[in-house]
Order: sequence, then C-alpha cells, then structure tokens
Amino acid sequence: MNKRLYIETVGCQMNVLDSELVVASLRQRGYELVESPKHADTVLFNTCSVRQHAEDKIYSALGRLKHAKQHHPQKIIGVLGCMAQKDQKLIFERAPYVDLVVGPGQLHQVPDLIEKIAQGSGPCMEVSLSRKDGSRDQISRSHESFDPLRDPTMRPTPFQAYVRIQIGCDKFCTYCIVPMVRGPEQGRAPEDIVSESRVLVDQGSKEITLLGQTVNSYRYRHNGMTTRFSDLLSMLHDINGLERIKFVTNHPKDMTDDLLCAVRDLSKVSPYLHIPAQSGSNRILTRMKRGYTVEEYLEMMQRIDDTVPDAAVTSDFIVGFCGETEDEFQQTVNLVKTCRFKNSFIFKYSVRPGTKGAEQLTDDVPEAVKKRRNNELLAVQNTISAQDNLRFLGRTLEVLVEGPSKTAVKQGASAKAILQLTGRTPCDRIVVFEGNERQIGQILPVTCYDTTSFTLFGLVVTSHIGPHAYDLEPLKASAQK
Ligand code: SAH
Ligand code: SF4
Ligand code: F3S
Repeated sequence: MNKRLYIETVGCQMNVLDSELVVASLRQRGYELVESPKHADTVLFNTCSVRQHAEDKIYSALGRLKHAKQHHPQKIIGVLGCMAQKDQKLIFERAPYVDLVVGPGQLHQVPDLIEKIAQGSGPCMEVSLSRKDGSRDQISRSHESFDPLRDPTMRPTPFQAYVRIQIGCDKFCTYCIVPMVRGPEQGRAPEDIVSESRVLVDQGSKEITLLGQTVNSYRYRHNGMTTRFSDLLSMLHDINGLERIKFVTNHPKDMTDDLLCAVRDLSKVSPYLHIPAQSGSNRILTRMKRGYTVEEYLEMMQRIDDTVPDAAVTSDFIVGFCGETEDEFQQTVNLVKTCRFKNSFIFKYSVRPGTKGAEQLTDDVPEAVKKRRNNELLAVQNTISAQDNLRFLGRTLEVLVEGPSKTAVKQGASAKAILQLTGRTPCDRIVVFEGNERQIGQILPVTCYDTTSFTLFGLVVTSHIGPHAYDLEPLKASAQK
C-alpha cells in the first residue's frame, strides 16, 4: 500500500495540535506528507464546526474529491475533528464516498482505522458520546484524548509548540457548539503537562502556548491537592531552556487575582491575555449565557491594569446575535472604545444546530446588518490598534524570530540573502524587519521605526547578538589574506 498523506486543517489551535498528533502517528506507520490531495493515497480533513462557513468549506472540498474517488476508488477520504463529531453519519449521506469519520476524542485510532479500510472493511465511524448519552464520567472518558505523540515538523515553527492542558468546555454559551463537540471540561495532570513541555523544549521549542477552551479555569485535583492554573504556570516557569509561555483562551469569569499575579511575577509568562467579551450589552450577554456583566468585565480590565499595566488584552465579539438592536450594538462599540483592545476578532453570528441559541432564540438580525456591524466594529478596532501601536515607535522590543515574512515567502526569497523576517513580541505583536537566515529562531532586540494596525516594522540591533550567532572564522581568514 502506498502511503502518501494529504491533510488539511481548519479551525482553532486545538485542531492544529490535533493534526500534528495524527500526522505523528501516521508517520510512525511509514506515511509521508504530500502537498496536494491529487498525489495522496489518503486525504484527511481536520474540521471545525464553530460557524456554518467553516463547515461549508469542508463540504465543498469534499465535493471536489468526488470525481477523484470515482477514478481512484482506493483513495481513502477521511473527515476528522469537530464536524465529524457534530455531523457523524450525515457526512456519509452528503458525501457517500467518504471512508472515515472520526471525532476529536478518537484521533489516536486513525492509523488502525485507515488500515482496516485499506483491507476492505468499508466505511468506518468513531465518535464520542453526545452530552446526553451517559454519565458525566462516561462522556468525559469518551472525549479523552491526551497527547502521546508529537511531530516537530508539523509545529507553527521549530521553536514554538502547543501544549494541551484542558479539553472540553462546561460553559455552554448559547451560541456555541464547542461543548457539544469537545465534551466536558477536563484538566490534564500537571506532571504530564510539565514532562511533555520538557520534551518539547529539548526538541528546540523556546515558546509554548498552553491550550484550553477556557484555559484559565484549569484546575486539577488529585489526592486532596488542587493545582490551579497559576500553580501550573509556576511549575512550567522552572523549565530550563523554555523562554516564553503563552496561553489561550481565557474566560472573563476565571481571570483570578492569583493568575494576574503569576503573569506579573513570572518573567517567562507573556503579558498577553486573550479574554473574549463577545458583547457590550448586558441583555445580549445574558442571552448568550456568558455569566458576567459589562460592569464585571470592566472591573476585570481594571484589575489587569492595576496588576499587569503593560498587558496586551485581545477580545472576540459576535455581532448580530439573536435580537441584537442597533443600540445594543453601539454598546459593543463603546466597550471596544473603552477597553482599547490590542486586537479583536469579530464574527457574524452563525446559528449552530444543537445549541440552546438555535433551539430557543430567533436568528433575526438580517445578514446585511450583521455585515455592516462587523465592518463598523472592525473599523473602530483597527483605528484603536493603529493608534496604540504608535507608542512603540523608537522602542526596542524583544522578538522571537519566526521566519521569512509573508511578503518574502510570496516573492520566493532565497533564505541565504538578506531577508524580510517576521517574529513576535512577548505581548504577541507581529514585528517585520530585515535580517538574515541565521537569526531565525533567536530572540532578538528589534527597534521599531514604523507601525500599522497589525504590524510593527523594525531594525534589528545586531550588536546584541551573542558571538555564537556568527561564524567569524571565514571573516578572520579573509582579513589575514
Ligand atoms: N473557547 C474560546 C473560543 C471559542 S470559539 C472562548 O470561549 O472564547 C472562538 C470564537 O468564535 C468565540 O470567542 C466566539 O466569538 C466565536 N463564535 C463561537 N460560536 C459562534 C457562532 N455560533 N457564531 C459566530 N461566532 C461564534
Ligand atoms: Fe464556547 Fe463559551 Fe465554551 Fe468558549 S466558553 S468554548 S464560547 S461555550
Ligand atoms: Fe472549531 Fe472545534 Fe476549535 S469547533 S474552533 S475546531 S474546538
């Protein structure tokens, strides 16, 4: 059997990490990755259900494979992840040539299932229990998927890695499908998180990003001892060679003082906090079942400002949620103006069958209105981001250099030449500057000379690079000639 694998990933960082694990497990069985579904024997889609658009994209991609499957019936087509868990058999109905449907909790079974299908078993489906189909413990077990294997080549860069510390979500915001597709909230044992992080650092990771749907509600109880999220950060801070710790996504209700003190006191923890507000209207927040008021959100922002004054706070917003009036939307605009987020991700409400929102509320804001509100809020946020970035002019920032910038990649720049590079500050701002291949993977001081809403432009202060970064021998040799 040929073993050429194509995998396409949509959705959040959890999915990026899941795809890394699936690829690692298939590599162990001799698979190699290829760039296009055309050249692959196995085509996998790791899917997302958070908005309709994400699902439509996958169904169209599946549609495009229909023809290929007719001509090459031995090609194995698999749908993994959140949409597999949500749509289950419906996927076979909509695309009868799909061979494999696997939920996020069963991804470790993918290599065996592919082998079974290759041997002629016919279509296979493995998914977790739905949230009404058993005791909490049974449902939790069926979603459990902690991470045995890693594949360095599948990471965002060789120096950055994701680490899952929690799966699932128990918040049940009325618009959101995640608790249904990822199951009950479960924290992972701290010693497992620390030992996995050590391995990642040994493999070259300088930065790890801890992942959880509500990462700051992380708690692990064992033998009468409770490890809070702030305790976990302290444990990770002690890992030699690890330089940066980031974490997403935070829930406003769980932004406790001990966590803020940990962000302030632990130098490796980035002062970057993604804490979605979702709306600036109390009536809408109640309808969303977010569990806080605008006043409580503002009080949290004040505590952040008091404890970690330089923290960069980012947010998510949903516009056009069921019943959102123009006035309520303006309250969201006001919240953005008051909080002056570093950045906001703005989404048009998309009804998700299976959620309380779909069952009990009416999606009554017309698409054109959602679009206009989205654009208006985005414009307000972009102006704030552009204004706030101006304060970095002339400042020197610590940048983890990730690689060639998008423009350099598009222009097919040779890595050896002077190159436009991109990297990030501890507060997750993107910095673009001219540099050299050898600087990729280093943390460098870069001085900012220009800014836009999304990017800082800088010059690298090369005098700060340690001697190890240079190979001086050729220079010395030519000087002696
Ligand atoms: N666990 C994270 C992320 C959830 S999904 C959190 O709690 O913030 C990421 C973002 O998608 C959410 O913050 C929300 O703004 C948006 N989102 C979720 N469901 C949505 C829906 N049905 N329609 C539009 N946007 C949605
Ligand atoms: Fe979805 Fe709300 Fe859970 Fe985030 S906290 S994953 S928005 S239910
Ligand atoms: Fe999407 Fe699943 Fe992430 S629904 S946002 S891929 S948890």
